[in-house]
Amino acid sequence: MPNNDPLGEIDLEHWTQYDDIITDSLWLLGKRDNTGAHTAEYWGNFVPQIPQQAMRRFTKRGELVIDPFIGLGTTLIEAVRLGRHAIGVDIQPRCVEQAQARVQQETGENGAQALAIVGDSTRPETAAAVQEVMRAWGFPHAHLLILHPPYHDIIRFSEAPNDLSNAPSTEAFLEGFGQVVGNFAPLLAHGRFLVLVIGDKYARGEWVPLGFQTMEIVRQSGFRLKSICVKDIQENRGKRGQYHLWRYRALKHNFYVFKHEYVMFFEKVGK
Ligand SMILES: C[S@@+](CC[C@H](N)C(=O)[O-])C[C@H]1O[C@@H](n2cnc3c(N)ncnc32)[C@H](O)[C@@H]1O
Repeated sequence: MPNNDPLGEIDLEHWTQYDDIITDSLWLLGKRDNTGAHTAEYWGNFVPQIPQQAMRRFTKRGELVIDPFIGLGTTLIEAVRLGRHAIGVDIQPRCVEQAQARVQQETGENGAQALAIVGDSTRPETAAAVQEVMRAWGFPHAHLLILHPPYHDIIRFSEAPNDLSNAPSTEAFLEGFGQVVGNFAPLLAHGRFLVLVIGDKYARGEWVPLGFQTMEIVRQSGFRLKSICVKDIQENRGKRGQYHLWRYRALKHNFYVFKHEYVMFFEKVGK
């Protein structure tokens, strides 16, 4: 049976007191939270407000969050701040090293543990390594999965052949993404949530709807779709100067400039 009670920290008797918890599907998050160990310097990291909202809404203190594309560790930092345990994976050793170093700065008194490990999340042995850590920490299941994959080749993250940003085609990217979902979904407890953060891309005169394509993969992997939220993309420092160029291109070639990405929420209904 699906669970219809709040999974997170909301006490429904006092529901009017959670003004900072988002319940609308349009996310205008504004300024990035750069406090503490958070950093804006990694091209391709998400704003901390995304994992923060997801964890507060769908996990309680002391529960476990897993992120198979940890980057510089935004999820780990936010988890530890909120008293949730977290395990992250990245294919780049340099990311894992930095994520671990950053989260160390945040480790507080609440006892939350965070670990980043190097691995290729498309490989079953990587999920098995995560499961080993879960066992050692005493968790039969995780309580939230956060997936923030490359938006295919929009940003090339590394030279690693199995880095999803190096997938030779959209089909290969989607296949790799499907393998990650297939490897990590079994670690999540039934009735718990998967959050997918992704944007679309534009190639050879055509909008490629990566968001909806990856959404379908998750839906076909034992999850039901609970919400599609649309988040505004704030221009980062590097791109600001290019805006006029993109606007000119859009007018010339009959398209619209991306100003949004998706934060999608799914509930695990399969095994
Ligand atoms: C969009 S970034 C994630 C950023 C992260 N949310 C943050 O805030 O720092 C995607 C990450 O996926 C990693 N990645 C790509 N392919 C991977 C794979 N097969 N296994 C594990 N990590 C992978 C990249 O190295 C990159 O750091």
